[in-house]
Amino acid sequence: MASDLAPLREKLLRERGFDISHYREPYVQRRLGMRLAAMGCRGVGEYLGVLDRDPGEYRCLLDALAINVTHFFRNPETFRALEGGPIVEMLERKRARDSRLVRIWSAGCASGEEAYTLSIMMREVLRDRPGPPPQVSILGTDLDEGALAQARAGEYKEPQVKEMDPVRRARYLVYDGSRGIYRVGDVARQGVRFQRADLHLGPPYTHWDLILCRNVIIYFPKDSQEHLFRGFHGALVPGGYLVIGKSESPPPGARDIFEVVDAEERIYRRAP
Ligand SMILES: C[S@@+](CC[C@H](N)C(=O)[O-])C[C@H]1O[C@@H](n2cnc3c(N)ncnc32)[C@H](O)[C@@H]1O
Repeated sequence: MASDLAPLREKLLRERGFDISHYREPYVQRRLGMRLAAMGCRGVGEYLGVLDRDPGEYRCLLDALAINVTHFFRNPETFRALEGGPIVEMLERKRARDSRLVRIWSAGCASGEEAYTLSIMMREVLRDRPGPPPQVSILGTDLDEGALAQARAGEYKEPQVKEMDPVRRARYLVYDGSRGIYRVGDVARQGVRFQRADLHLGPPYTHWDLILCRNVIIYFPKDSQEHLFRGFHGALVPGGYLVIGKSESPPPGARDIFEVVDAEERIYRRAP
C-alpha cells in the first residue's frame, strides 16, 4: 500500500478495525479520490482532519468503497469453514441435549442474501445427516427498510448470485428469464424472516446458536464495537458462534469474551 495511504489505513484500522489493505490499491485510490473531491480536500492529510472533525464521514467513505454491497455465498470459504466444523459441532451438541431448534441471526443482513445463504447451507448440511433434522430458524435484521423490502421479496440479479455454484442455483433459486432475475424458492425461504433492528440498541433477541455480523462493525466506532460484542456474547447460547467480516477484527475489549475458532475466516466462539 502506497505511503500516502498508510496514515489512512492506520486510522481506519485503529478507529473501525477495518483494513483497507484487503482491497486493491488503484481501487482504493479511485474511490477515496471521490470522497476527497466531495469534501474539497487536496490530499489524504487534509482528509484525515475531516474524519476527525466529522465522524459521519467514515460512513460516506465506507459506502464509497462500496463495501455495502452483498451477494449469495459472499466469501464462500467462510461458509465451507462453518460447514466443516462449527455447524457439525453445534448439531452434535443439540442432538446430545435433544434440542430440536437451531437459531441463526444475520445481523446487518442488507438485502438478505446472507440469510438465504445460511438457509441453503443448513439444508445442505442437514440432508447429509442421518436422523430427523432439527427445525432451523433464521432472522435477518438491518437498519435499512429499503434493503429489508428487497430481502423479503427475495429477487436478485446475476451479480448477487455469481458466487453460487450452478447446482445450488438450480436447486434453490427460480430464474425468471423475462425479468432477468433469480427468485428465492420456497425451500430456501422456509424458516427465514426479516425485521428492522438497530444494532446500536443491542440484540433484539437472545439464545442464538450462530450470529453472523459481517461487514457491519466497520460502521461503528471502537467503543460501540465493544458494546456490540458484549451484546453478542450475552445473546449467544453457551458455545454459540460469532462470525465477522474478513477485513474486520474484534475490538480489544472483546478478545477475552470470545475464543478464536478460525482466525482466517473470523469465526469465534462465546467464551464461558
Ligand atoms: C455491507 S452490508 C453487510 C451485508 C452482509 N452482512 C454481508 O457481509 O454481505 C452492511 C449493512 O449493515 C447495515 N447497518 C449499518 N449500521 C447498522 C446498524 N446500526 N444497525 C443495523 N444495521 C446496520 C447497513 O444498513 C448495511 O445493510
